[in-house]
Amino acid sequence: MKEYILNNSLVSHKMGVLRDKNTSTKEFREIIKELSTLLCYEAFRDVETYEREIDTPMSKITAKRINMDDYVFVPILRAGLGMMDGILQAVPTATFGFIGLYRNEETLDPVEYYFKMPSDIARRNIILLDPMLATGGSAVNAIGQLKKHGVKDIRFLCIVASPQGLEAVQTAHPDVRIYAASLDKGLNDQGYIIPGLGDAGDRIFHTVD
Ligand code: PRP
Ligand code: URA
Repeated sequence: MKEYILNNSLVSHKMGVLRDKNTSTKEFREIIKELSTLLCYEAFRDVETYEREIDTPMSKITAKRINMDDYVFVPILRAGLGMMDGILQAVPTATFGFIGLYRNEETLDPVEYYFKMPSDIARRNIILLDPMLATGGSAVNAIGQLKKHGVKDIRFLCIVASPQGLEAVQTAHPDVRIYAASLDKGLNDQGYIIPGLGDAGDRIFHTVD
C-alpha cells in the first residue's frame, strides 16, 4: 500500500465545503483540522504496538500501547501548520519538527528556508504534513532532507493530492506511504490542483480576501 485515499461520504461532504470559495476562514480551518485528525488515525492504523498489563474496573487485560516518542510530526511551512491542531486532537503529546519551503512561482521548484528537528531525529518515524501535494516538488524535497538526516520511516499526510504529485513522490521515494483526503483530477498551467481548493496557505492564514 503506497497511497491511501479517504473514501467516505462524510469526507466528500466536508471536501465540498472546503473547496467552496465562499467558505469562511473559520470553517476552512475547522475542516482542515477535522480531516487532519482523521488522516492521523489512518496513518496510525498499522503501526507497531507494545503490550502492557492493566487493571480495568472489571478485569485484568493486556492492552496495546504506541510508543509516541518514536514519532515526530513535521508540518511543511506554511500551510502544513494548519494541520497541527488536528494532529494534537489525535495525539496531544505530539513532538514536532518543522521544514520551511515555498514554491518559486515561475519554476514551481521548492525553495528551502528552514529545517528544525529534535536532535535524535534519525531514530524517529516521521509523519510529514502538508495540505497540498501538487507537482510533488515540495514533498519530494522535504522527504529528501529528512532522509539526509538518517530518517527511515516516513508517512506523508495531505488533504488534496494530484495524480502528478503522487507519481512524483512514489517515483523519488517509493518507501513513503501517502495518505490523502482526496485525489483530484490534475494541475493547471500554474501548478495549482484542479479542482483543488486554491492556495491553502492563503486560505488558512487569511492572507487574501
Ligand atoms: C504550497 C503547499 C505545498 C506546495 C505544494 O506551499 O502548501 O507546500 O505548495 O506544491 P508542490 O507539490 O507543487 O510543491 P506554497 O509554496 O504555496 O507555500 P506556503 O505554504 O508558504 O504558502
Ligand atoms: N499549493 C496550493 O496551496 N494549492 C495548490 O493547488 C497547489 C499548490
